[in-house]
Amino acid sequence: MRTRRDSKAFSFLELNDGSCLGNLQIIADEGIPGYESIAKMATGASVRVRGELVASPAAGQSWEMRATELRLLGEAPDDYPLQKKGHSAEFLRSIAHLRPRTNLYGAVFRMRSRMAHAVHEFFKQRDFIYVHTPIITASDCEGAGEMFRVTTLDEKKPAPPEEDFFGKRAYLTVSGQLEGEAFACALSNIYTFGPTFRAENSNTSRHAAEFWMIEPEMAFCDLEGDMDLAEELVKHLVKEALAEAGGDLDIFTKFVDKKLLERLEFVASRPFERVTYTDAVELLRGSGEKFTYPVEYGLNLQSEHERWLTEIHFKKPVTVFNYPKEIKPFYMRLNDDGRTVTAMDVLVPGIGEIVGGSQREERLDVLLDNFRTHGLDAETYGWYSDLRKYGSVPHAGFGLGFERMLMFVTGMANIRDVIPFARTPGHCEF
Ligand code: 4AD
Repeated sequence: MRTRRDSKAFSFLELNDGSCLGNLQIIADEGIPGYESIAKMATGASVRVRGELVASPAAGQSWEMRATELRLLGEAPDDYPLQKKGHSAEFLRSIAHLRPRTNLYGAVFRMRSRMAHAVHEFFKQRDFIYVHTPIITASDCEGAGEMFRVTTLDEKKPAPPEEDFFGKRAYLTVSGQLEGEAFACALSNIYTFGPTFRAENSNTSRHAAEFWMIEPEMAFCDLEGDMDLAEELVKHLVKEALAEAGGDLDIFTKFVDKKLLERLEFVASRPFERVTYTDAVELLRGSGEKFTYPVEYGLNLQSEHERWLTEIHFKKPVTVFNYPKEIKPFYMRLNDDGRTVTAMDVLVPGIGEIVGGSQREERLDVLLDNFRTHGLDAETYGWYSDLRKYGSVPHAGFGLGFERMLMFVTGMANIRDVIPFARTPGHCEF
């Protein structure tokens, strides 16, 4: 029950079952069975109504229901936190178990579902094979050491890793890529779509400790093909969101970001810009802008730099590629210049990086060299090297952060507001 208004001989009830933004208006005459409980049919209550659906004379709705019977299923006392007034995002996060009952969050989570279906649709149309990569792993794909440990050891009794459940240290995965590569080298085009975990202590609006990532991996594909697919996927999802215009998308445009519709239409219809890391650094250095973090060849681009490129300079999504090898993980393919690797990041306005990917190093000798320079144990990655030893093939892939994509299509400014129950540093409620 969203609201109720009582007149002398009848009541108007606004019911919402979460299937869409609109409520169904019920007209309940005094005296019908169940009307004696009307006072308890307050905001937040759960009610079953029988009646006749009739064309509505009221503006803004095609149908209304003339009730013949009401039944109170569950009442909601006066302390129900979602009374009819605006609530701050912070307050709603503290009641994440109730916030999907609000109009805005109902729309966010319907959009999340719609986007997830659209991801599978996209890959199905292209004959990609869906692979479930493991959530528990012993290897650190990104080599950044930002992993949550999985253990059954007693914290009070220190013991060596060999005595742990898996006989070694194990972690929650930061990416399904390495296992995805094994399947791409067998089935050609594959993708994973699952939960991913990062123990980075980044308390920003774009980082979560648990998030979902979409990771395609393609055999016989180079960086160019990889950038093409990333652009197609982002556009496909933007178009899918636009199909909600007139429905859920309108609430985001109205209450979250007035320019959302315009921006999504713009992104869906134009090619993304492509620029090398070296050129991006030149542009940033020549921008005259005072950035908090330094811009120098060999340093990572920070969010403020990414946003300048996409929001101020190009004013559209930008794919930055060919990064210095020193700032990228071991698996990226070394370019002929010997200095850069075939990395690519897609940056979008309002968010910054949404996709990270690369062509993979398919030459065994170069890969083994990379293990050495990155200080990685070649034995641990023996199975990964085997993919190069036996019938190696050029291949490429990327990861699209699902929540960042959702932020982009809804305009929601904080990652905590597009995931049902956010896990961020210091927060693991619900
Ligand atoms: O750039 P990342 O770290 O790439 C990888 O993990 C590769 N192994 C992917 C691949 O090539 N298969 O992460 C990819 C994307 C980022 O662009 C971002 O959108 C998202 O994942 N992401 C996060 N989203 C939310 N919270 C975090 N802490 C995130 N870290 C990365």
